[in-house]
Amino acid sequence: MPGILTNTIADKNQLAADNVVLSSGSNEALQAAFVAWGKKGRVVMPGLTYTDHVGYSRRMGVELDLVPLKKDMSIDLDRIADAVDDSISLVYICNPNNPTGMTLDGDELRDFCRTVGKKAVVIVDEAYNDGMAGMRVGYGLARPDLASTIKNHLMAWSNVVGLAAANGIEPLPSQTNFVYADISRNASEFQKQMAARNVLNPNYSRISMGRIEDIRVFQQVFSDVYRG
Ligand SMILES: Cc1ncc(COP(=O)(O)O)c(C=O)c1O
Repeated sequence: MPGILTNTIADKNQLAADNVVLSSGSNEALQAAFVAWGKKGRVVMPGLTYTDHVGYSRRMGVELDLVPLKKDMSIDLDRIADAVDDSISLVYICNPNNPTGMTLDGDELRDFCRTVGKKAVVIVDEAYNDGMAGMRVGYGLARPDLASTIKNHLMAWSNVVGLAAANGIEPLPSQTNFVYADISRNASEFQKQMAARNVLNPNYSRISMGRIEDIRVFQQVFSDVYRG
């Protein structure tokens, strides 16, 4: 199932699957990046921004360089760019910024990323773009080598229910070890196709959580058959 969502996000952004990092909400990928690059140098960010990342980074021993906002409370991209020297490994920009709610001009931000990105890794936190915060589904888009570094620092396992929901399958809220979902296609036919791949699941629309190795096989076959 992670494969389907990865491909959907990649296609939507005209990128390849290895540009996509799926994570448990956007926080996990963002904070994994702080840990990964914060070990290599200092992190520069606006002086007023999303406090979760500031607190988490400090607790991880990451050294932060906070650049004050402009008088109008917008992020000072020029001053942040000036602050990027050899000691800086990561630049964090939140757009729209939390807590001001103010957005940056798209062209200015792209120019900033092109220029500053040559000197340090730049993260743009767009947590308010699409996303399924409550289901803990988030994603990041990055160059494959950077995406791979972030993936190496993730901590959570794939959230099967969240991934299913992000793929358009809405399971009922379950208090058990199975989920019951409308798969919006002929379920008997779907069951036959799953059986043809040696995944037999007589209560086909009730998905039970079995042993982890069974779930992994199930996830893969379900994804393949669901995509058709
Ligand atoms: C700027 C910003 N980044 C990240 C997050 C975390 O979002 P998520 O629920 O996708 O992990 C939030 C949540 O409020 C946020 O405001």
